[in-house]
Amino acid sequence: MYTQQDYQKAVEIIQLKTDLKPTIGLVLGSGLGTLADTLENRVVIPYADIPCWPQSTVHGHHGNLVIGELEGQVVAAQQGRAHFYEGYSMEEVTFPIRVMHFLGITTVILTNAAGGVNSDYRVGELMLIEDHINLPGIVGANPLMGPNDDSIGERFVGLAQAYDRSLRTIAKNIAEQNDIPLHSGVYLAVSGPSFETPAEIRMIRTIGADAVGMSTVHEVIVARHAGMRVMACSGITNEAIDAVDTEFETNHEEVLEAGKVIVPRLTTILKGVLNNFPA
Ligand code: HPA
Repeated sequence: MYTQQDYQKAVEIIQLKTDLKPTIGLVLGSGLGTLADTLENRVVIPYADIPCWPQSTVHGHHGNLVIGELEGQVVAAQQGRAHFYEGYSMEEVTFPIRVMHFLGITTVILTNAAGGVNSDYRVGELMLIEDHINLPGIVGANPLMGPNDDSIGERFVGLAQAYDRSLRTIAKNIAEQNDIPLHSGVYLAVSGPSFETPAEIRMIRTIGADAVGMSTVHEVIVARHAGMRVMACSGITNEAIDAVDTEFETNHEEVLEAGKVIVPRLTTILKGVLNNFPA
C-alpha cells in the first residue's frame, strides 16, 4: 500500500524541476506520446527519476513526465504509461494518477490505442469514450480494492457520469469543425497482453462495447475517486478480428503504425479542448 508520504515524495521531486503548476493532466498512450514534445517551456522528467513511478517496458511508450504549456494551459503529460499486463498491480499502474491529483491537477485527459469492435469503425478514426466496461474490475481487479484513503475520496465511487459531458461536447465540436471522424462509444478493458480471440471479440461486441484496449479504465476510476474531471479518447489502431481462419492477425506494429494517422487528429482535438477549456 502506498502512503501519503510516497505520493508527497513524488510530488516534491517533480516540483523541484519546475515552477509551473499544472492543472490538466494528459496521459498519452501507445504511439501517441509525441504531442508532449510540443509543449512550451517544458521540463522532461524521466519516470525513473520519480520514486515509485512505474516504468513501461513497452515499445512505443517513452517514459517521461513532461510539464509545460499548451494552448495557454499548464499541463503535465505522461509520455507513455505502465500496464497491468507488465506485472504491476492496479495500485502501481494508477500511482501516476494519484500523483497528478496531489500535484493539484483537477482534469485528466487520457488517450489510448484501441481495437475497433463496432463494425462501423475504421483504422485511424477516433472514439470519444462516453462509458466503459471494466472486465478486469468486474472479476476482482478494481484499482480501488483494499483500504480506502478517505482523504482522497469516498469508499464507493459512482461512475454514471465518469466521462465529463461538457468536455465531450467541446471535443465533438472541434472534431466537426476540422472534419475529423470522431465516434462516441463504450471502451471495454481487458488485461492483455494477448489480443482477444475472435470468440472474445464477438462476446465483447454482444455485451455492448465499441472498442477494446488494455488501459485507461483503472486510471479513470482512480481519477474519479479523487474527484478529478475526466475526458478519454481512443485511437482505433486495428479492426478487431471476429472470425477464425481469416488471413488476419492483430499485432503491435500495426497498432504503432496507425498511431501516425491518429496523432495529428488527436493533437487537433486535444489542442482544441485546451483552447476552449471551460472555466
Ligand atoms: N485489443 C486490445 N488492445 C488493443 C487493441 C486490440 O485489438 N488494439 C490496440 N490495443
